[in-house]
Amino acid sequence: MSTLSPASQLILKHLSEKIDKQTLIIDPLEAQDLAHPDFLSCEVWSFRDLQLPNTMFIWPEKPNGQYHQAIVFFPKAKEKAKWLLSQLAEILPPEANIYLVGENKGGIKTCQKVLADQLINIHKQASGKHCLLYSAQPNPNATKPAGFNFHQYTIEQKSVNIANLPGVFSFGELDKGTELLLSHLPAEINGRVLDFACGCGVIGAFIAKHYPNTLLSFSDIDALAIDSTRETLKQNQLTGELHLSNGLKKISSKYKYIFTNPPFHTGLKIDYYISEAFIKECGQQLESGGKLYLVANRFLKYPQILQNHFDLVEVIAEDNKFKLYCAYNR
Ligand SMILES: C[S@@+](CC[C@H](N)C(=O)[O-])C[C@H]1O[C@@H](n2cnc3c(N)ncnc32)[C@H](O)[C@@H]1O
Repeated sequence: MSTLSPASQLILKHLSEKIDKQTLIIDPLEAQDLAHPDFLSCEVWSFRDLQLPNTMFIWPEKPNGQYHQAIVFFPKAKEKAKWLLSQLAEILPPEANIYLVGENKGGIKTCQKVLADQLINIHKQASGKHCLLYSAQPNPNATKPAGFNFHQYTIEQKSVNIANLPGVFSFGELDKGTELLLSHLPAEINGRVLDFACGCGVIGAFIAKHYPNTLLSFSDIDALAIDSTRETLKQNQLTGELHLSNGLKKISSKYKYIFTNPPFHTGLKIDYYISEAFIKECGQQLESGGKLYLVANRFLKYPQILQNHFDLVEVIAEDNKFKLYCAYNR
């Protein structure tokens, strides 16, 4: 049985003959797919921390080859899709073919509507494996969607400025879980603090601003999240260490506190295996006596996972949707 993702299977079934080293692959969901011999000669533009055998450019780096076509794994966030296609138009020649592929449940069906300004000649090419494949060309007259979105959020009369690139979590609105966490922070926080899975950096920037005896680090798998955090820090005249990292793999320091509103999805599915891996990694990056503060949807099975890796797990706050846990060792 093939281990390729359904989207990659659909691409190979219909485009295998056309894929060559002047094909640029954008934002692949499954890193292991790119090891397939048909993809190996392609260059990849990634927006995440990925380990690939291909020549790869990770945002904000931009591909610099001569490409006649691009295969875009359609992003779940529509704002990101628009922004991504406008970035791509700056790299491809106007006659280039752009293929869009994605799972039906990831929203690919909306691509004709969502990308009506960015693309011309959008046609459905194929369907199968619960996925769709479209082809199109860049629209030379497209309007350029805005980059950063700026906001100010106020929690318990304390404010923080936020910069958010399209598709980064909390785009345009503070998440209710994050708000629960920020309104129940400990009275005193000092020392090294990690905002794990930081998104636009709202948690860490709020802490850095209102708890001046802290030294903040931020990590996220998403290059647009790290870029947003960099801008968020600038907007608040703050500094911090930034790590583009899948989980905590690239983090070597130890922290007195880790705060997180963690991811619980892999692609489109809830994945407890990955949640457990993150919690274990967080435990390993805490100083002795350090504490993990984690907010999550109350229906998720976090208490058990936290208890597997910490001696003590307390519920600090809750509402009808979220619970804030504090986990630490004796
Ligand atoms: C629920 S959002 C929280 C964002 C931010 N802390 C907030 O409260 O607005 C989860 C974040 O996890 C990041 N993420 C997803 N998978 C990840 C992984 N494997 N490693 C690190 N971060 C990941 C996502 O990019 C996203 O920014």
